[in-house]
Amino acid sequence: MDDIVVIGAGQAGATLVATLRRDGFAGKITLIGEEPVLPYERPPLSKAYLLGEMARERLYLRPAAFYADNDVEVITGLRVDTIDRGGKVVIAGDRQFPYDKLALCTGSVPRRLPEAIGGALPGVFTVRTLADVDAMAPLMRPDARALVVGGGYIGLEAAAVASKIGMRVTLVEMADRILSRVAAPETSDYFRALHRRHGVDIREGTGLQELTGEDRVTGAVLSHGETLAADVVIVGIGISPATALAEASEIVVENGIRTDAQGRTSDPDIWAAGDCASLPYRGRRIRLESVQNAIDQAECVARNMLGAGQDYVPYPWFWSDQYDCKLQIAGLSAGHDRIVTREGPEGSGQTAFWYYRGDTLLAVDAMNDARSYMVGKRLLEAGRSPDPAAVADPDTDLKALLKG
Ligand code: APR
Repeated sequence: MDDIVVIGAGQAGATLVATLRRDGFAGKITLIGEEPVLPYERPPLSKAYLLGEMARERLYLRPAAFYADNDVEVITGLRVDTIDRGGKVVIAGDRQFPYDKLALCTGSVPRRLPEAIGGALPGVFTVRTLADVDAMAPLMRPDARALVVGGGYIGLEAAAVASKIGMRVTLVEMADRILSRVAAPETSDYFRALHRRHGVDIREGTGLQELTGEDRVTGAVLSHGETLAADVVIVGIGISPATALAEASEIVVENGIRTDAQGRTSDPDIWAAGDCASLPYRGRRIRLESVQNAIDQAECVARNMLGAGQDYVPYPWFWSDQYDCKLQIAGLSAGHDRIVTREGPEGSGQTAFWYYRGDTLLAVDAMNDARSYMVGKRLLEAGRSPDPAAVADPDTDLKALLKG
């Protein structure tokens, strides 16, 4: 019987071990994670958990008993140093874990501001781990001044929480608009207006020159030379795939750990899933930074480790919650040349439909518009494209498009 070791105890790693057992694997399973806690959900960290509205216990993906009942050995608080691929052993300090098959679910690491511009001052936080949020929580107080750096999902979600708490919030985004990496200009407009209504001072086309302060952060100099006071700085400037271990072990890395369509790396006994993996998709390679991908890919890779031989077909799907707005994105918009927007029900929501060559649907961004999202997602999954003129027409019954 094989021994399987999984490195990385986030959403992908936890899903992978559960799937191995569910699908009948009877050998030894060891799940090794660097963080000192059992696998947990990250999305609430920048939302309900940061706001103090969600208990820590509710973050855990599964109770400790699940791993015991399923005979999965979970080792937390342990960082793997190297993989001896020749000897098929994972090495962590003075401990060794022999494997027949290995999965890398190492996730990603948040980008940090350089130390030379104050990025390491106390009071400056990233939002990636439970420990990050637990450390920043005491500083999230009414009337305190928050500076948020980066206008992606993380920065905007943190800004929404800070504003709800009653903090005075400024957000700087280096690019000419917030959410430019992931969403349509119309979506950025919607969120800019939403945040401004809640009193967040959003500055686009504005970077950071430096953070200031002696023994902790007290302010910032922005790219135009303006100075601001800040009690807490929240940095959401993107993430990088955690590939250091793969690189050190001479596994091929190409903007993430390179896998084939089934999730196998350049070493036939080593597989990868989740944020860290770079996978083939429609003639190019992509990495998908989303929980849905971590789950779906890890399930597929687990089955392939047991010999299923199935290609992984991702259906990219992302979401964000800010104030009372739910953003849901299906598909990938890269390569688009046309965007059609549609008002949601009763004028409260809005959806952007992204097209390629004018009429091939690539993605939808839906804001408080569950119906457009659901229809768009199902059309994308079926490989169908609704007529852009019909989509834009408020009198079109969207559900009828599914039948067409
Ligand atoms: N100053 C201001 N803005 C910056 C700077 C800087 N020095 N550096 C980068 N930015 C901006 C980028 O232009 C971008 O709009 O920060 C934003 C980061 O957005 P994302 O790349 O979407 O990353 P982030 O919001 O950190 O989210 C990371 O976590 O929630 C998950 O799946 C989500 O993949 C996402 C990940």
